[in-house]
Amino acid sequence: MQLRDRAVVVTGGGSGIGAALCRRFAAEGARGILVADLDASAAEAVAVEVGGIGVACDVTREADVASSVERARSEFGPIDLYCANAGIAVGMGTGSGTSGPFAPDADWTRSFDVHVMAHVYAARAVLPAMLERGEGYFLTTASAAGLLTDITGHAYSVTKHAAVGFAEWLAIAYGPQGLRVSCLCPQGVVTPLLESVAAQMGGGGHLVPDAIEPDEVAEVVVTAIDREEFLILPHPVVKDYAIRRASDTDRWIHGMTRMRNRIYSESD
Ligand SMILES: NC(=O)c1ccc[n+]([C@@H]2O[C@H](COP(=O)([O-])OP(=O)(O)OC[C@H]3O[C@@H](n4cnc5c(N)ncnc54)[C@H](O)[C@@H]3O)[C@@H](O)[C@H]2O)c1
Repeated sequence: MQLRDRAVVVTGGGSGIGAALCRRFAAEGARGILVADLDASAAEAVAVEVGGIGVACDVTREADVASSVERARSEFGPIDLYCANAGIAVGMGTGSGTSGPFAPDADWTRSFDVHVMAHVYAARAVLPAMLERGEGYFLTTASAAGLLTDITGHAYSVTKHAAVGFAEWLAIAYGPQGLRVSCLCPQGVVTPLLESVAAQMGGGGHLVPDAIEPDEVAEVVVTAIDREEFLILPHPVVKDYAIRRASDTDRWIHGMTRMRNRIYSESD
Protein backbone atom coordinates (compact mmCIF):
# COMPACT_ATOMS: atom_id res chain seq x y z
CA MET A 1 0.00 0.00 0.00
CA GLN A 2 1.26 3.44 -0.88
CA LEU A 3 0.96 5.99 1.92
CA ARG A 4 0.14 9.01 -0.21
CA ASP A 5 -3.31 10.40 0.67
CA ARG A 6 -3.87 7.80 3.37
CA ALA A 7 -5.48 8.39 6.76
CA VAL A 8 -3.41 6.94 9.57
CA VAL A 9 -3.68 6.40 13.33
CA VAL A 10 -0.51 5.79 15.34
CA THR A 11 -0.71 4.84 19.02
CA GLY A 12 2.31 5.62 21.15
CA GLY A 13 2.92 8.25 18.49
CA GLY A 14 4.27 10.78 20.95
CA SER A 15 7.72 9.21 21.24
CA GLY A 16 10.34 6.92 19.74
CA ILE A 17 9.28 4.60 16.94
CA GLY A 18 5.71 5.93 16.85
CA ALA A 19 6.86 9.52 16.42
CA ALA A 20 9.31 8.44 13.69
CA LEU A 21 6.47 6.61 11.90
CA CYS A 22 4.29 9.74 12.05
CA ARG A 23 7.08 11.89 10.58
CA ARG A 24 7.80 9.39 7.85
CA PHE A 25 4.12 8.92 6.95
CA ALA A 26 3.80 12.71 6.70
CA ALA A 27 6.83 12.81 4.39
CA GLU A 28 5.15 10.14 2.24
CA GLY A 29 2.11 12.41 1.83
CA ALA A 30 -0.43 10.85 4.19
CA ARG A 31 -3.61 12.98 4.12
CA GLY A 32 -4.23 12.75 7.85
CA ILE A 33 -2.31 11.47 10.88
CA LEU A 34 -3.89 11.01 14.28
CA VAL A 35 -1.23 10.78 16.97
CA ALA A 36 -2.62 8.95 20.01
CA ASP A 37 -0.66 8.68 23.22
CA LEU A 38 -1.06 8.37 26.97
CA ASP A 39 1.10 11.47 27.08
CA ALA A 40 -1.23 14.08 25.57
CA SER A 41 1.37 16.84 25.28
CA ALA A 42 3.83 14.52 23.50
CA ALA A 43 1.05 13.49 21.08
CA GLU A 44 0.20 17.14 20.48
CA ALA A 45 3.85 18.09 19.85
CA VAL A 46 4.28 15.37 17.20
CA ALA A 47 0.89 16.24 15.69
CA VAL A 48 1.91 19.87 15.28
CA GLU A 49 5.12 18.73 13.59
CA VAL A 50 3.34 16.48 11.08
CA GLY A 51 0.22 18.61 10.56
CA GLY A 52 -1.95 15.99 12.24
CA ILE A 53 -4.15 15.74 15.31
CA GLY A 54 -2.91 14.76 18.75
CA VAL A 55 -5.20 13.02 21.21
CA ALA A 56 -4.85 11.69 24.73
CA CYS A 57 -5.52 7.96 24.58
CA ASP A 58 -4.90 5.12 27.00
CA VAL A 59 -4.91 2.09 24.69
CA THR A 60 -5.80 -0.20 27.60
CA ARG A 61 -9.22 1.51 27.71
CA GLU A 62 -11.49 0.37 24.91
CA ALA A 63 -13.52 3.60 25.04
CA ASP A 64 -10.33 5.65 24.43
CA VAL A 65 -9.34 3.49 21.46
CA ALA A 66 -12.85 3.71 19.97
CA SER A 67 -13.09 7.47 20.42
CA SER A 68 -9.66 8.13 18.89
CA VAL A 69 -10.67 6.04 15.87
CA GLU A 70 -13.95 7.99 15.62
CA ARG A 71 -12.07 11.28 15.84
CA ALA A 72 -9.71 10.22 13.04
CA ARG A 73 -12.65 9.19 10.89
CA SER A 74 -14.54 12.42 11.42
CA GLU A 75 -11.44 14.50 10.62
CA PHE A 76 -9.90 12.50 7.75
CA GLY A 77 -12.54 10.06 6.48
CA PRO A 78 -12.03 6.28 6.36
CA ILE A 79 -8.92 5.03 8.17
CA ASP A 80 -6.47 3.32 5.84
CA LEU A 81 -3.74 2.36 8.29
CA TYR A 82 -3.92 1.70 12.04
CA CYS A 83 -0.60 1.34 13.84
CA ALA A 84 -0.92 -0.44 17.19
CA ASN A 85 2.45 0.72 18.41
CA ALA A 86 2.19 1.80 22.07
CA GLY A 87 4.32 -0.33 24.35
CA ILE A 88 5.86 -0.53 27.80
CA ALA A 89 8.73 -2.39 29.44
CA VAL A 90 8.03 -2.85 33.13
CA GLY A 91 9.62 -4.96 35.87
CA MET A 92 12.63 -6.14 33.86
CA GLY A 93 14.87 -8.78 35.44
CA THR A 94 16.42 -12.19 34.91
CA GLY A 95 14.19 -14.16 37.24
CA SER A 96 15.66 -13.38 40.62
CA GLY A 97 14.02 -11.24 43.30
CA THR A 98 10.67 -9.92 42.19
CA SER A 99 11.05 -10.64 38.48
CA GLY A 100 9.81 -13.41 36.23
CA PRO A 101 6.92 -15.31 37.77
CA PHE A 102 7.56 -13.42 41.04
CA ALA A 103 6.84 -10.03 39.44
CA PRO A 104 3.70 -8.31 40.66
CA ASP A 105 0.49 -9.26 38.87
CA ALA A 106 0.21 -5.59 37.90
CA ASP A 107 3.30 -5.88 35.65
CA TRP A 108 1.84 -8.90 33.90
CA THR A 109 -1.67 -7.51 33.44
CA ARG A 110 -0.48 -4.06 32.36
CA SER A 111 1.86 -5.62 29.78
CA PHE A 112 -0.94 -7.85 28.52
CA ASP A 113 -3.37 -4.93 28.33
CA VAL A 114 -0.96 -2.64 26.43
CA HIS A 115 0.52 -5.27 24.09
CA VAL A 116 -2.48 -7.49 23.43
CA MET A 117 -5.89 -6.20 24.55
CA ALA A 118 -5.13 -2.79 23.03
CA HIS A 119 -4.75 -4.54 19.67
CA VAL A 120 -8.00 -6.42 20.17
CA TYR A 121 -9.80 -3.14 20.97
CA ALA A 122 -8.23 -1.53 17.90
CA ALA A 123 -9.30 -4.41 15.67
CA ARG A 124 -12.86 -4.10 16.97
CA ALA A 125 -12.82 -0.38 16.22
CA VAL A 126 -11.33 -0.38 12.71
CA LEU A 127 -12.10 -3.77 11.18
CA PRO A 128 -15.84 -3.45 10.42
CA ALA A 129 -15.33 -0.37 8.19
CA MET A 130 -12.16 -1.80 6.60
CA LEU A 131 -13.85 -5.10 5.77
CA GLU A 132 -16.89 -3.29 4.37
CA ARG A 133 -14.62 -1.25 2.09
CA GLY A 134 -12.60 -4.35 1.22
CA GLU A 135 -9.33 -2.68 2.19
CA GLY A 136 -7.39 -1.54 5.22
CA TYR A 137 -4.04 -1.98 6.88
CA PHE A 138 -3.21 -3.00 10.46
CA LEU A 139 0.37 -2.59 11.64
CA THR A 140 1.35 -4.20 14.92
CA THR A 141 4.54 -3.09 16.63
CA ALA A 142 5.55 -6.28 18.41
CA SER A 143 9.27 -6.95 18.93
CA ALA A 144 12.03 -9.45 18.20
CA ALA A 145 11.17 -10.48 21.79
CA GLY A 146 7.87 -11.74 20.37
CA LEU A 147 9.62 -14.05 17.90
CA LEU A 148 12.57 -15.08 20.08
CA THR A 149 12.75 -14.37 23.83
CA ASP A 150 14.07 -11.31 25.59
CA ILE A 151 16.21 -12.53 28.47
CA THR A 152 15.30 -9.64 30.76
CA GLY A 153 11.68 -9.06 29.84
CA HIS A 154 9.45 -11.84 31.14
CA ALA A 155 6.07 -10.07 30.84
CA TYR A 156 7.39 -8.09 27.87
CA SER A 157 8.48 -11.13 25.89
CA VAL A 158 5.46 -13.26 26.70
CA THR A 159 2.97 -10.55 25.75
CA LYS A 160 4.91 -9.65 22.58
CA HIS A 161 4.63 -13.31 21.55
CA ALA A 162 0.88 -12.90 21.98
CA ALA A 163 0.96 -9.71 19.90
CA VAL A 164 2.69 -11.57 17.05
CA GLY A 165 0.12 -14.35 17.37
CA PHE A 166 -2.78 -11.93 17.19
CA ALA A 167 -1.35 -10.13 14.15
CA GLU A 168 -0.83 -13.45 12.35
CA TRP A 169 -4.35 -14.52 13.23
CA LEU A 170 -5.78 -11.27 11.81
CA ALA A 171 -3.81 -11.73 8.59
CA ILE A 172 -5.13 -15.26 8.10
CA ALA A 173 -8.72 -14.53 9.10
CA TYR A 174 -9.25 -11.28 7.17
CA GLY A 175 -6.65 -11.28 4.39
CA PRO A 176 -9.15 -12.73 1.94
CA GLN A 177 -11.47 -9.78 2.69
CA GLY A 178 -8.82 -7.20 1.85
CA LEU A 179 -7.16 -6.58 5.22
CA ARG A 180 -3.39 -6.28 5.09
CA VAL A 181 -1.38 -6.86 8.27
CA SER A 182 2.26 -6.24 9.09
CA CYS A 183 4.07 -7.14 12.27
CA LEU A 184 7.09 -5.03 13.14
CA CYS A 185 9.69 -6.93 15.19
CA PRO A 186 12.78 -4.83 15.89
CA GLN A 187 15.58 -5.56 18.33
CA GLY A 188 17.04 -2.54 20.14
CA VAL A 189 15.93 0.90 18.98
CA VAL A 190 17.25 4.09 20.57
CA THR A 191 14.15 5.33 22.43
CA PRO A 192 13.12 6.14 26.01
CA LEU A 193 11.76 2.58 26.30
CA LEU A 194 15.18 1.05 25.62
CA GLU A 195 16.80 3.54 28.01
CA SER A 196 14.33 2.49 30.68
CA VAL A 197 15.16 -1.20 30.12
CA ALA A 198 18.88 -0.43 30.47
CA ALA A 199 18.23 1.58 33.65
CA GLN A 200 16.14 -1.24 35.13
CA MET A 201 19.05 -3.63 34.44
CA GLY A 202 21.46 -1.42 36.37
CA GLY A 203 22.62 0.76 33.50
CA GLY A 204 23.57 -2.08 31.14
CA GLY A 205 21.17 -3.57 28.67
CA HIS A 206 22.38 -6.12 26.15
CA LEU A 207 20.43 -4.58 23.26
CA VAL A 208 21.94 -1.11 23.58
CA PRO A 209 25.18 -1.65 21.58
CA ASP A 210 23.39 -2.75 18.39
CA ALA A 211 20.44 -0.41 18.75
CA ILE A 212 19.33 1.47 15.65
CA GLU A 213 17.57 4.83 15.31
CA PRO A 214 13.76 5.14 15.12
CA ASP A 215 14.11 6.81 11.69
CA GLU A 216 15.83 3.68 10.36
CA VAL A 217 12.89 1.61 11.60
CA ALA A 218 10.41 3.97 9.95
CA GLU A 219 12.28 3.66 6.66
CA VAL A 220 12.06 -0.14 6.74
CA VAL A 221 8.37 0.03 7.71
CA VAL A 222 7.43 2.24 4.75
CA THR A 223 9.15 -0.13 2.32
CA ALA A 224 7.47 -3.17 3.88
CA ILE A 225 4.02 -1.55 3.81
CA ASP A 226 4.58 -0.69 0.17
CA ARG A 227 5.30 -4.39 -0.46
CA GLU A 228 2.56 -5.51 1.94
CA GLU A 229 4.94 -7.84 3.79
CA PHE A 230 3.74 -9.41 7.03
CA LEU A 231 6.99 -9.64 8.95
CA ILE A 232 9.06 -6.47 9.25
CA LEU A 233 12.57 -7.04 10.57
CA PRO A 234 14.65 -3.85 10.78
CA HIS A 235 17.47 -6.04 12.17
CA PRO A 236 17.75 -8.71 9.42
CA VAL A 237 19.72 -11.03 11.76
CA VAL A 238 16.47 -11.68 13.65
CA LYS A 239 15.35 -13.86 10.74
CA ASP A 240 18.46 -16.06 11.15
CA TYR A 241 17.82 -16.30 14.88
CA ALA A 242 14.19 -17.28 14.30
CA ILE A 243 15.26 -20.00 11.86
CA ARG A 244 17.84 -21.33 14.33
CA ARG A 245 15.31 -21.31 17.16
CA ALA A 246 12.76 -23.20 15.07
CA SER A 247 15.21 -25.72 13.63
CA ASP A 248 16.83 -26.79 16.92
CA THR A 249 14.94 -25.32 19.87
CA ASP A 250 16.89 -27.15 22.59
CA ARG A 251 20.18 -25.88 21.20
CA TRP A 252 18.68 -22.40 20.99
CA ILE A 253 17.56 -22.44 24.63
CA HIS A 254 20.98 -23.66 25.71
CA GLY A 255 22.69 -20.86 23.78
CA MET A 256 20.33 -18.24 25.17
CA THR A 257 20.95 -19.51 28.70
CA ARG A 258 24.71 -19.20 28.22
CA MET A 259 24.31 -15.69 26.85
CA ARG A 260 22.09 -14.69 29.77
CA ASN A 261 24.62 -15.98 32.27
CA ARG A 262 27.53 -14.34 30.50
CA ILE A 263 25.86 -10.93 30.30
CA TYR A 264 24.23 -10.90 33.68
CA SER A 265 26.87 -12.98 35.56
CA GLU A 266 24.45 -15.52 36.93
CA SER A 267 25.00 -19.25 37.30
CA ASP A 268 23.17 -22.05 35.46
N1 LIG B 1 12.91 0.59 21.65
C1 LIG B 1 13.13 -0.70 21.42
O1 LIG B 1 14.26 -1.20 21.58
C2 LIG B 1 12.01 -1.58 20.93
C3 LIG B 1 12.32 -2.84 20.39
C4 LIG B 1 11.31 -3.66 19.94
C5 LIG B 1 9.99 -3.23 20.00
N2 LIG B 1 9.71 -2.01 20.54
C6 LIG B 1 8.30 -1.61 20.61
O2 LIG B 1 8.12 -0.42 19.89
C7 LIG B 1 6.95 0.25 20.38
C8 LIG B 1 7.27 1.70 20.60
O3 LIG B 1 8.22 1.80 21.66
P1 LIG B 1 9.40 2.86 21.67
O4 LIG B 1 10.65 2.10 21.77
O5 LIG B 1 9.22 3.85 20.60
O6 LIG B 1 9.19 3.47 23.12
P2 LIG B 1 8.82 4.92 23.63
O7 LIG B 1 8.82 4.81 25.11
O8 LIG B 1 9.66 5.94 22.98
O9 LIG B 1 7.33 5.12 23.09
C9 LIG B 1 6.25 4.39 23.60
C10 LIG B 1 5.04 5.32 23.63
O10 LIG B 1 3.90 4.55 24.03
C11 LIG B 1 3.13 5.35 24.89
N3 LIG B 1 2.28 4.51 25.73
C12 LIG B 1 2.65 3.67 26.72
N4 LIG B 1 1.56 3.14 27.28
C13 LIG B 1 0.49 3.63 26.63
C14 LIG B 1 -0.90 3.47 26.76
N5 LIG B 1 -1.44 2.69 27.70
N6 LIG B 1 -1.71 4.13 25.90
C15 LIG B 1 -1.19 4.95 24.95
N7 LIG B 1 0.11 5.17 24.80
C16 LIG B 1 0.94 4.51 25.63
C17 LIG B 1 4.15 6.13 25.70
O11 LIG B 1 3.57 7.29 26.31
C18 LIG B 1 5.19 6.46 24.65
O12 LIG B 1 4.94 7.70 24.02
C19 LIG B 1 6.54 -0.50 21.65
O13 LIG B 1 5.46 -1.36 21.37
C20 LIG B 1 7.79 -1.28 21.99
O14 LIG B 1 7.50 -2.43 22.75
C21 LIG B 1 10.68 -1.17 20.99
